[in-house]
Amino acid sequence: MITSSQENSEDVVLDSTLRPQKFEEYVGQEKVKDNLRVFIEAAKKRGDVIEHVLLYGPAGLGKTTLANIIAKETGVNIRVTSGPAIERVGDLGSILTNLSDGDILFIDEIHRLNKTVEEVLYPAMEDYKLDVIIGKGPSARTLQLDLPKFTLIGATTRLGSLSNPLRSRFGAIHRLEFYTQNEMEEIIRRSGKILQVQMDSAGCSQIARCSRQTPRVANRILKRVRDYSQIYGDNLIEEKIAKKALEMLEVDHFGLEPTDRNILMTIIEKFAGGPVGIGTIAAATSEEVETIEDVYEPYLIQLGFLARTPRGRVVTENAYRHLGKDFPVEKQKNLL
Ligand SMILES: Nc1ncnc2c1ncn2[C@@H]1O[C@H](COP(=O)(O)OP(=O)(O)OP(=O)(O)O)[C@@H](O)[C@H]1O
Ligand SMILES: [Mg+2]
Repeated sequence: MITSSQENSEDVVLDSTLRPQKFEEYVGQEKVKDNLRVFIEAAKKRGDVIEHVLLYGPAGLGKTTLANIIAKETGVNIRVTSGPAIERVGDLGSILTNLSDGDILFIDEIHRLNKTVEEVLYPAMEDYKLDVIIGKGPSARTLQLDLPKFTLIGATTRLGSLSNPLRSRFGAIHRLEFYTQNEMEEIIRRSGKILQVQMDSAGCSQIARCSRQTPRVANRILKRVRDYSQIYGDNLIEEKIAKKALEMLEVDHFGLEPTDRNILMTIIEKFAGGPVGIGTIAAATSEEVETIEDVYEPYLIQLGFLARTPRGRVVTENAYRHLGKDFPVEKQKNLL
């Protein structure tokens, strides 16, 4: 599977060799980059740390990459952890007290922090203070420790799952967007150079079209297409070879994979095209709710194949057409 979030070790190595190290190498997201550049320069001028930054957007668009670039461009150390990894207040306490002045703490999947941990984070973010409780029962006392001045960078695929108090403590909140065809081609060309693959421009744009407007997917597909070209195509990635390889991977010309098509087909065939709740879709397709919401659905919505309504998900006419299905007449009348 190409969109899978479970990475094998080769993909991890690939991810780190292809990962841009500075703003100039980071393709697209111009507005976010411009804002961050100003943000970083201004903080440097004041001789201050940058304010806390929250990055959100669908999986694989470059949140982790951007967090690392911010650290590099600011010239500070970055400490990386994730919401689910911080189980207890003590875990967070030891991370925070081990930071140095100016450090960046990156918390991936920050929406998955548990409530008690989150509450300790508030004063840490606001006043660089850590409340520690010493002892138990009636004799327990709270001690307040001063923390180094740090910057928190949070990343999440779901802004809506973040509590208001947490969200409001970020000085900057940036949404990463899906990439355009041109940006995708630039990313694939760049990755191709690093991997030293031969590729013509038609081959490159074919891969770009089928990569869900998502760099991580593009890099994975590029690697598979490269493998295919080494066996069947004289080492050159041209359009024909790219198409054949994508066919073998069961990725269609919109970049949909079997799971995407299964989700859409299930809604069409079992639920008359919707509206149907996400939990019901998950049960009917044997996928996790989280996986559908974070990995598959955002791109289907971006394509205009799926819509979210207050009563549930609805498959659109475009998706019916793409799947070779007739759009029911009664739907054409009472839609929205
Ligand atoms: N703007 C970009 N330019 C070039 N390559 C990029 C860009 N953004 C991401 N990539 C590539 O895509 C890969 C995935 O990006 P990254 O891990 O930062 O995504 P993410 O948003 O953190 O995803 P997740 O939500 O799954 O953690 C990176 O290893 C990098 O090679
Ligand atoms: Mg990430």
